[in-house]
Amino acid sequence: MIHEYPESFARFYDLIYHKHRDGVDNEYFQKQIKSAKGKILEIGVGTGRLFIDALHQGADIFGLDISQSMIDVLFSKLGRDQHYRISLQNIVDFHYDFEFDLIIAPFRVLMHLMGKDEQIRALNNVYGHLSANGKFIFDTFVPDLEQLINGVQNRTDFEGEYVKGKKIKRMVSTKPSLINQTIEVNFHLEWDEDNELRHEDWKVPLRFFFRYELEHLIERSNFEKYMIFGDYHENELNHDSKEFVVICQKKSNL
Ligand SMILES: C[S@@+](CC[C@H](N)C(=O)[O-])C[C@H]1O[C@@H](n2cnc3c(N)ncnc32)[C@H](O)[C@@H]1O
Repeated sequence: MIHEYPESFARFYDLIYHKHRDGVDNEYFQKQIKSAKGKILEIGVGTGRLFIDALHQGADIFGLDISQSMIDVLFSKLGRDQHYRISLQNIVDFHYDFEFDLIIAPFRVLMHLMGKDEQIRALNNVYGHLSANGKFIFDTFVPDLEQLINGVQNRTDFEGEYVKGKKIKRMVSTKPSLINQTIEVNFHLEWDEDNELRHEDWKVPLRFFFRYELEHLIERSNFEKYMIFGDYHENELNHDSKEFVVICQKKSNL
């Protein structure tokens, strides 16, 4: 089952996430992109938060996403001659006629895959599109035990203006399910428009992973080699780690 991002979420995505995420993962992914030699693919490219900078730096980068709403925002930032780089496809069964030296799925893309079968198909499909020695990098958050028990209730995680004088606020609530290993996230958006207060809710489940489930999953896939780090500086996992940063590598044909 796919959970497309709604238009309102896509519309305000950059405003919220350039603020929340750029300082966290941007430098790391841009560095990885810069050091890749051939073609690069960003899976779950979204509005191009990372993609646009990479393209401007000269990367031969492609992007795919299941959400038309997110892709539409990305198209609005790209010249028509670059639209061929973007397509509406699913990580589980996407297809290109060429291979990539680096494939990335930044910012929780894999947490949108609920079932074991689609997770394995996604990993193997990525594997099949990598050149020899190619790398796949993705991240998931380290589950916060307190939040897994109590969830979060109406926490304001963004407040500002989307254009001068027009306010926007976002509140987040979460409902964890230990047995399904999911967190149902409710995003509540409120914003000024046409002299009234608009609001919209969007519920989306995220599948959380513990370390050894990630290890088992990758070991069941075609990938022969992987490492899991605890942050975007590639430090080892430790008790304070907030992210699993996973690098899977395809072995060389030699
Ligand atoms: C949190 S956003 C990350 C966007 C971008 N990578 C970034 O770092 O800002 C996750 C993106 O993954 C996309 N996505 C979710 N499930 C997907 C799937 N099965 N295949 C491809 N993209 C998917 C969503 O539509 C969304 O645009």
